[in-house]
Amino acid sequence: MKVVHTIAELRAAIGGPQRAAFVPTMGNLHEGHLALVRQAKSLARAGEPVVVSIFVNRLQFAPHEDFDRYPRTLARDCELLEPAGCDIVFAPDERELYPEPQGYKVNPPAELADILEGHFRPGFFTGVCTVVMKLFQIVQPRVAVFGQKDYQQLMVLRRMAQQFALPIEVVGGQTRRADDGLALSSRNGYLSADERAEAVTLSRVLRAVRSQLDGGDRDLAKIEQGALDALTARGWKPDYVAIRRRADLQVPTAEQLAAGEPLVVLAAAKLGATRLIDNLEL
Ligand code: PAJ
Repeated sequence: MKVVHTIAELRAAIGGPQRAAFVPTMGNLHEGHLALVRQAKSLARAGEPVVVSIFVNRLQFAPHEDFDRYPRTLARDCELLEPAGCDIVFAPDERELYPEPQGYKVNPPAELADILEGHFRPGFFTGVCTVVMKLFQIVQPRVAVFGQKDYQQLMVLRRMAQQFALPIEVVGGQTRRADDGLALSSRNGYLSADERAEAVTLSRVLRAVRSQLDGGDRDLAKIEQGALDALTARGWKPDYVAIRRRADLQVPTAEQLAAGEPLVVLAAAKLGATRLIDNLEL
């Protein structure tokens, strides 16, 4: 496995007309990231290297967010990546990726990117799309893998690839969870022992939403409010719990609900100072 820090080194490492299977990350890797790397390995064709980028992208953090304290653990990440099947780690510094302020940006459409996460983190998906577009140009992958843990991000990036006719297949990977059900996340490392024990509530609340729908309840507003109340009662500060259409993350109509429209419930909530997100297809 090669570890490279510049675009020129990366191009040389990929070599010739070769395409790649690509997993973009911000590092501090856990089993969720590694599962995506193994998936990329299985998708790679003969001769195609698996490339993993590690870059904490300032553009997608608001000034009050955790950019400065986001964990940077490159040496350990590389130890984990080699056995997972990664061939090339691309770990640029900020000067390499943003040698001048990034004035050109990719603005995703409001109806997809200003709702849910985008509503609570204005500009977040512009930051994500801009860096991923840039990484796509640099790596020139044939296939790129993103986790369903970030359900809206996966959808925004899939649409970006479609609308710009990028010759890149965007593939989703299942959410990996701890034994108690908590979705793995680099931000789980911010949790105290007590908060870590409580954190499982978020996935429990989503499963409770699923049981209510399975039980025939169709009053989405009431189900969502029940989930918000359950979180608040346990000391969380929820941003949203939203039952939406899988296809476009919009609110389903009563007719669509009755016709069995595929749904997903998405949630974001703060536990202490840590903001966690999760989702479950229903
Ligand atoms: P990061 O949070 O490091 O996540 C990198 C990839 O790992 C994303 O596709 C994310 O959805 C996936 N992932 C995270 N936790 C997961 C889990 N528990 N199970 C499965 N997949 C999981 O997402 C980003 O970085 C950035 O926004 C990025 C796309 C790299 C752009 O900067």
